[in-house]
Amino acid sequence: MSNLSTRYMGFNLKNPIIVGSSGLTNSIENIIKIERNGAAGIVLKSLFEEQINYHINKAYSQDIGNNAYPEAQDYISEYTLQNDVDQYLKLIGESKKSVSIPIFASINCVSAKEWISFARKIQDAGADGLELNIFILPSDPDKTGIENEAMYFEIIDEVLKHVSIPVSIKISYYFSGFANTAMKLSWTGIKGMVLFNRFFSPDIDIDKFKVTSTNVFSTPDELAIPLRWIAMLSNRIECDIAASTGIHDGKAIIKQLLAGADAVQVSSILYSKGFEQIPIMLNEVEGWMKIHKFNSIEDFKGKMSIKKSLSPAAYERVQFMKHFSGIE
Ligand SMILES: Cc1cc2nc3c(=O)[nH]c(=O)nc-3n(C[C@H](O)[C@H](O)[C@H](O)COP(=O)(O)O)c2cc1C
Repeated sequence: MSNLSTRYMGFNLKNPIIVGSSGLTNSIENIIKIERNGAAGIVLKSLFEEQINYHINKAYSQDIGNNAYPEAQDYISEYTLQNDVDQYLKLIGESKKSVSIPIFASINCVSAKEWISFARKIQDAGADGLELNIFILPSDPDKTGIENEAMYFEIIDEVLKHVSIPVSIKISYYFSGFANTAMKLSWTGIKGMVLFNRFFSPDIDIDKFKVTSTNVFSTPDELAIPLRWIAMLSNRIECDIAASTGIHDGKAIIKQLLAGADAVQVSSILYSKGFEQIPIMLNEVEGWMKIHKFNSIEDFKGKMSIKKSLSPAAYERVQFMKHFSGIE
């Protein structure tokens, strides 16, 4: 039997499949099903800064409206914060009692403010690791790229002061100097980088004149962007890499491992085809390893990264050219 185990963020994973943060990882029933289907790790649904603020504001406007007691506002804010935290902490605790695979908590954040103290509670609740989903849309015309990027470092710095469990970041490629930024982020003490997050994107209904959303789920061809960057960065950054976005079958997992990923995260395929897809994907990886006589993931991980590939220029090529695209 092939050895599918891999190391990610200091954990020995029995195989490279981690179920990514989504509504699928928000209940204990699903978490048990995910482990039974053979996944090696789970990232819980994110706790959102916006969600916390929403609860604070809602409770304040419903319960005390315009009253003039600031201490009451403080109390309610604290109470609502505590409730959200409690629900999340309960899920972490129950997950740890019910399954033996690593459980990563997740926080969706854009600042280094009040939520930072949650990080410690998440650790105390038993989370094995913490994934920070950081995205600051560079849409403020008064903010420079340097200022936006500084926020990522500030968030990481603050979180690392509060926890000792391994921390990873889940980011996008919206950086002007992405390779340089990714490398510097990897030096901060984080243990993993998830490349890449996938966003809610707007569309326009041209008859109803309404802004709507595009596809919530990824398609397999979205694999190309993380594949390129992982191939280019895997030898350069100093933390582990989990590939994310567009991984819909075993072949996509193999490609990301060849590019140099240490693990992969999957979501959309499990929404569309169910958790049974996990063993199917693992069988595909194992079958391919047998054909190519690889006994372990280590035997081929990074074999097609930019450093080891026989045609590294293909990763850096962005404009079409007959030589690379095969089309005149
Ligand atoms: C319905 C849905 C909910 C999601 N919720 C979260 C979330 O709370 N936090 C997060 O970091 N990513 C979230 N994601 C993003 C996924 O974790 C993942 O990064 C993205 O879907 C790309 O992977 P995929 O191509 O396997 O779907 C969500 C995705 C979907 C489809």
